[in-house]
Amino acid sequence: MSLKGKHLIDPNDFTLEELDEIFDLSEKIIKDKEAYNSICNGKILGALFYEPSTRTRLSFESAMLRMGGRVLGFSDATHSSVAKGESVADTIRVLSSYADIVVMRHPKEGAPRLASQYANVPIINGGDGGHQHPTQTLADLLTIRVLKGSIEGNKIAFCGDLKFGRTVHSLIKTLSRYSGNKFILVSPNELRLPKYLKNMLIKNGNIDIYETEDLESVIEEIDILYMTRIQKERFFNEADYVRLKDSYILTRNKLNNAKSDMIVMHPLPRVNEISYDLDEDERAVYFTQARFGIYTRMALMSLLLGVI
Ligand code: CP
Repeated sequence: MSLKGKHLIDPNDFTLEELDEIFDLSEKIIKDKEAYNSICNGKILGALFYEPSTRTRLSFESAMLRMGGRVLGFSDATHSSVAKGESVADTIRVLSSYADIVVMRHPKEGAPRLASQYANVPIINGGDGGHQHPTQTLADLLTIRVLKGSIEGNKIAFCGDLKFGRTVHSLIKTLSRYSGNKFILVSPNELRLPKYLKNMLIKNGNIDIYETEDLESVIEEIDILYMTRIQKERFFNEADYVRLKDSYILTRNKLNNAKSDMIVMHPLPRVNEISYDLDEDERAVYFTQARFGIYTRMALMSLLLGVI
């Protein structure tokens, strides 16, 4: 089994054994960071961000720098030849000779998949439109594995924008491959999980799904609460966003009836959906989750590059 040379476009691109390999290595890195600080000497990460990002771009950059490699790319495509009309295919053909591995975020669903068809180096999807965000899923699953002890057998509530939230799409898809998980989908009617994903879960069988608009009615039974931002940038009109943006605002008081070992996750950035007073509660783990993103990305890149 080797991940060397593979692309990561969709979380299902990797087997559960390959995902385990990434998590095992991430945990080793957490325990002994110094041991990995030169494994990517001479390697270059190309970071192509056609959409805004803080965590994904900077954690990829930090991960490569922490392993002794270097980084090039853009965080604003209007300052690249994209502004002159260059296609994703041509950009990637060129980047394949400038970098050893590429992470791409793009507003169009499928753009990283297209890029992978023209690349000679591993392509990593850093988020494509409202579709998938597989490396966020790696950070999410490592958080669950470390803090809950297992990726199996949890009752997970996803709350907020389940229609456009790509982190939810990738995480649900992946969690459904592990046994014993139960899903509670909490959203306004207009922001429910897309039918294609729900049908996929139902078709896979063995998945317990419950949908509701009322978070407080289920808060007592949840092991993991995965909050999400209402994705303003994916709405077709401002009025709908304004009407729905504050559908859920989680405060510390609202966790009074929650389990003492329940964890609250969020891919970040947050807007209003988690009150700042919750940050002091030990169940709030979203900053740990963001930190784990560095270690999973170190593990992922070193395995795709075959330097470990
Ligand atoms: N979680 C996440 O993707 O954050 P950024 O948009 O800041 O990269």
